[in-house]
Amino acid sequence: MEELSTKDKELIRDSWESLGKNKVPHGVVMFSRLFELDPALLNLFHYGTNCDSTQDRLASPEFLEHVTKVMLVIDAAVSHLDDLHSLEDFLLNLGKKHQAVGVRTQSFAAVGESLLYMLQCSLGPAYTAPLRQAWLNMYSIVVAMMSRGYAENGEGKAD
Ligand code: HEM
Repeated sequence: MEELSTKDKELIRDSWESLGKNKVPHGVVMFSRLFELDPALLNLFHYGTNCDSTQDRLASPEFLEHVTKVMLVIDAAVSHLDDLHSLEDFLLNLGKKHQAVGVRTQSFAAVGESLLYMLQCSLGPAYTAPLRQAWLNMYSIVVAMMSRGYAENGEGKAD
């Protein structure tokens, strides 16, 4: 597994902390961006009905619950930067669950882009090239572990 540099870890920890205690609003920015990039992903969540507007669906408790879960996973990753390996089983299972609900590994690229978009919006001038790279490095480790769950589900190499 790739290792994060000391500088990467410092950039990630400091920037995550600077977002404040309540990460949910940042998660809403991230997922709103994701659904702009790939509106079809919204249909994987069975929020409301297909007739509801995207705005209604984004305001639903289920959406906020998922956003909260995502932020908690990122929080766990940031808290375990020295030992991301310890999250391997959890992330592998998370990958399996996402495969089961129809998320394809190709969508992880748009998720990463949305994460960076949220960081850029929230951090303003503190969003620098090394900081962007540090987050990408961490994200690629998380994605690699989640993708292993897809491969383990008997579908061969993650798609
Ligand atoms: C393409 C983007 C994603 C889609 C479409 C998606 C979709 C879903 C769906 C449909 C569920 C089941 C219903 C629910 O619990 O709300 C779920 C559960 C979950 N998702 Fe995601 N998800 C995405 C990305 C992520 C990411 C990036 C993370 C964290 C890094 C994450 C963390 C979770 C967690 C922790 C659960 C609960 C799993 C459990 O029940 O044990 N999701 N996701």
